[in-house]
Amino acid sequence: MRLDKMLAHLGYGSRKEVKKIIRAGWVLVNDELVRDDDFHVSEADSVVVYDENVEMLTEQYFLMNKPAGTICSHDNKLFPSVYDLFDEQLLPKTQAFGRLDQDTQGVLILSSDGVLGHRLLSPKHHVKKVYQVDLLNSFDPKFISLIEKGIKIDKEEICAPATIEIVSDKRILLTLVEGKYHQVKRMMVACENEVTNLIRIQFGPIMLDPKLEPGQYRKLSEEEIELLRNHA
Ligand code: URA
Repeated sequence: MRLDKMLAHLGYGSRKEVKKIIRAGWVLVNDELVRDDDFHVSEADSVVVYDENVEMLTEQYFLMNKPAGTICSHDNKLFPSVYDLFDEQLLPKTQAFGRLDQDTQGVLILSSDGVLGHRLLSPKHHVKKVYQVDLLNSFDPKFISLIEKGIKIDKEEICAPATIEIVSDKRILLTLVEGKYHQVKRMMVACENEVTNLIRIQFGPIMLDPKLEPGQYRKLSEEEIELLRNHA
């Protein structure tokens, strides 16, 4: 990759700003001063900017157990953002694959790989999202067939067919292949009920990791990244 593109990707500034840094002589590649912004580098090269070693990361992939009370956008005025929970530097392009609302907990994949994210979120791919839903009132079985056929959640909005498993009186598992705004909550309103607790326990092939407490995250393994790629 071009040196200026790599440094911009790593968050050292815009392409224009990074070119200035390189031309001003602040960048060493393999201990040699490089002032040429179209110089090519790979992950194997050692790059130093402003006397600091650069971690040559091309992509990031994380699994987080999103805690309730956080939001998936950078606008953290009302609630803390999931991005504030990271100890390490995130690549500028790293973002959540789809959003969970502020009350919802569970599996959140965050990555800089926008192509993969786009494919996994595309309605064409029908990636399954499994939610454990706790309810205020007992779930009324008369709604099972409506959910399985595609329940209407607004005057005009009809959901794709979903799968439902009754776990107990007030707990169900719901498997959706789409991601409409507050979909589970609105589906439960359509079932004359109310969600009291919502946890996403699976996103495509990735399950909630029981070792991750709410708010904790880890890198996805190579096998998990491959599973996601094969899923999209
Ligand atoms: N459905 C909801 O109501 N909220 C979410 O965050 C995800 C699905």
